[in-house]
Amino acid sequence: MQINQNARLSVAPMMDWTDRHCRYFHRLLSRQSLLYTEMVTAPALVRGGAMHLLEFDPAEHPVALQLGGSDPQELSQAARLGADAGYDEINLNCGCPSDRVQSGTFGAVLMKDSALVSECVAAMIEASDVEVTVKCRIGVDDQDPDQVLPEFLSRVAAAGCRRVIIHARKAWLQGLSPKENRDVPPLDHDLVLRMKALFPGLHISINGGITSLDQARGFLEAGLDGVMVGRAAYHHPAEILCAADRVIFGAGSDSDPVEVARAMIPYIKAHIAAGGRLHQVTRHMLGLFAGRPGARAWRRILSEGAHRPDAGPKLLEQGLEQIELAPGATAV
Ligand SMILES: Cc1cc2nc3c(=O)[nH]c(=O)nc-3n(C[C@H](O)[C@H](O)[C@H](O)COP(=O)(O)O)c2cc1C
Repeated sequence: MQINQNARLSVAPMMDWTDRHCRYFHRLLSRQSLLYTEMVTAPALVRGGAMHLLEFDPAEHPVALQLGGSDPQELSQAARLGADAGYDEINLNCGCPSDRVQSGTFGAVLMKDSALVSECVAAMIEASDVEVTVKCRIGVDDQDPDQVLPEFLSRVAAAGCRRVIIHARKAWLQGLSPKENRDVPPLDHDLVLRMKALFPGLHISINGGITSLDQARGFLEAGLDGVMVGRAAYHHPAEILCAADRVIFGAGSDSDPVEVARAMIPYIKAHIAAGGRLHQVTRHMLGLFAGRPGARAWRRILSEGAHRPDAGPKLLEQGLEQIELAPGATAV
């Protein structure tokens, strides 16, 4: 299936970060990588009728919708809505530790109830004909990952899920903030490699602490099927995505960050014409030139200017001048 190929490299679902503007921008950087939405809760879709949360630009394909929830009936309805909206994959969040999410029995707390997760997955598969996947942790709290994770994976596989993404650290449900839960529990990448050996038929993507394309390629060469990158792709999008089509997918040439910034202009004009604001798009582009001469001026111009009520795409041109005129710019 093509989407399993795209899943060789994916950009992680990140609340408040991977919104549709961010995904459109990332898509210009890499044609092939799989993109994920922020988590949308099944109740918000089914009970709240928050259908605007499903809107996306056709250019974003291949794009996966991440759902949060734990009620099989609700998740099946939400999965159907997502499939009808045109998403290429529906993903179930079993990794998010935030309080709000715990209170509704979503996210990482589901690592404690693999029977319920398998019911949810079966219901979602039944309801839609797009790929249903699961993103999980290696365990929570005092669970023993070596025991819990194989059991969890065999249950979701038995329910019909053929692809999982494993964030290679535990979530601690008490005492850590969501942010700390992405840094404090230690990473165990080897455990994910062992899971691939145990479940050779399951498509397994590794996630957590991956900061370069070389590292991503290393995991693929070690036998994993996919690599999901979160914060590094957001903060250093060019470093992770510009060469991804060539390095990870062996197809296509590298994208050029300056051309990508220019290619965002028509999109930004349309967004502003529809009543949107410049900063809603450009806030995702601040790291585009990270590590290059002029990067700091680019970031400053966008972050200081994009909030002004009359701010428009001209600001991007001003920022780009700083990149093109920076001393040493041609050497990079
Ligand atoms: C700001 C932010 C928001 C996140 N929101 C979600 C989310 O909605 N769903 C989810 O499964 N994971 C979420 N995550 C976790 C990431 O998907 C990923 O698993 C985690 O950041 C580890 O990968 P990384 O080390 O490559 O960043 C979020 C992470 C960040 C930084």
